[in-house]
Amino acid sequence: GLKIVTIGGGSSYTPELVEGFIKRHAELPVSELWLVDIEDGKEKLEIVGNLAKRMVKKAGLDIEIHLTLDRREALKDADFVTTQFRVGLLDARIKDERIPLKHGYMGQETNGAGGLFKGLRTIPIVVGITKDMAELCPDAWLINFTNPAGMVTEALLKYGYTKKVIGLCNVPIGMERMAAEILEMDPSRIRMDFAGLNHMVFGKEIYVDGKPFMKEFIEKYTDANVVTTMKNIKDFKWEPDFIRGIGVIPCPYHRYYFKKREMLESELKAYAENGTRAETVKKLEEELFELYKDETLDIKPPQLQERGGAYYSDAACRLINSIYNDTMDIQPVNTMNRGALADIACDSAVEVSCIITKNGPVPLSMGHLPTAVRGLVQQIKAFEQTAADAAMTGDYNLALAAMTMNPLVQEDVDAKVLLDEMLEAHKDHLPQF
Ligand code: NAD
Ligand code: G6P
Ligand code: MN
Repeated sequence: GLKIVTIGGGSSYTPELVEGFIKRHAELPVSELWLVDIEDGKEKLEIVGNLAKRMVKKAGLDIEIHLTLDRREALKDADFVTTQFRVGLLDARIKDERIPLKHGYMGQETNGAGGLFKGLRTIPIVVGITKDMAELCPDAWLINFTNPAGMVTEALLKYGYTKKVIGLCNVPIGMERMAAEILEMDPSRIRMDFAGLNHMVFGKEIYVDGKPFMKEFIEKYTDANVVTTMKNIKDFKWEPDFIRGIGVIPCPYHRYYFKKREMLESELKAYAENGTRAETVKKLEEELFELYKDETLDIKPPQLQERGGAYYSDAACRLINSIYNDTMDIQPVNTMNRGALADIACDSAVEVSCIITKNGPVPLSMGHLPTAVRGLVQQIKAFEQTAADAAMTGDYNLALAAMTMNPLVQEDVDAKVLLDEMLEAHKDHLPQF
């Protein structure tokens, strides 16, 4: 059977992953799941690991669940490695969200200054994981869910010790489900062509029962009163003529760029009132772990759907399944562009629909992005590359360049204020600076 290793195993998302492996066990014979965490996450690992054991037992399956703080022991001879860790835990996210807001800038875990700092903390560690993998399980695939997933994939393509890396996000699945809801159809009838970057991806075409349907869909989409988004993003409605103008379906995260003022005002309100998303998630996580502790619980509790990463297991398990079984189906992932997106360099990471084979994702050719949105996508890519270089070198000036070039900052003097304050606040997790 297969040996799967999950780094950041103490995450509250782990039951989703376990459920995904249980559901697919007939075609994807997982025999060992190793959940890896660190000293700070020991208690969470214990609780979620015991729930995982009960879930597997209830399903009557022979999947060994191992809990460990020893990453190298776990990685030995792994077939697939998934990562879902958070350096500095939610307290670091609170800082990523609150410090920028204090200065009047968007505070968000994967966008703006917060996204930059999450990347600076995370990239050296993920690169370290690939170093261990090259030695201990050189044939394994790394499926990275750790945010900022786009920047992390970009960094791994350049600095990683293994090139078998794929970045994953639940946003594209969420967009297909949103489309299915609007069209009142079963999601299995719908597929989108995705083109762009992580949290900066567009639906370029939509197919209903295999037939292109974009023109009709745009009308229904702009007519819809409520457009479902992710649990962590407000569902402010798009200006219909703007959507007709770009001719592609934006992702929920585009609101931070195309509704900058509205989004900032609503975050500033949260900052002043009941707390930012990280604080909401902290409460949610405490409730989830209280549930997980209940020894009669042996399934994934529905409350997990309140987290932004809902359907993550579907994305991760169907990807692993397709690689293992060489199914050659189409899935959106973060991978090396190889010419699929004409507006982005060939060796950069893109989030694009791919054919999933035994040898990894093969990106489908998407041609050019609409002219109106191309520039922003390229600017975000330049930001990600500058940030990845700063994360690996610890170069202060490069970090300032990245911060300033982020479309949600664009002020050199303020960028330096943010950078200095955040470097100080996160110094325990930024040994490279
Ligand atoms: P979390 O705060 O519960 O952290 C998960 C675990 O990681 C914790 O138990 C923690 O102790 C552990 N950890 C921290 N540093 C580690 C290290 N160096 N090695 C091993 N384990 C370590 O986080 P969460 O809310 O479950 O989210 C996990 C990650 O997944 C985050 O990076 C988050 O941004 C990301 N995420 C991604 C998506 C996506 O679409 N790609 C969606 C949701 C969440
Ligand atoms: C979204 C995204 C993730 C994001 C997360 C936040 O759906 O795809 O990349 O970080 O959910 O969820 P949370 O519940 O932690 O706010
Ligand atoms: Mn995501």
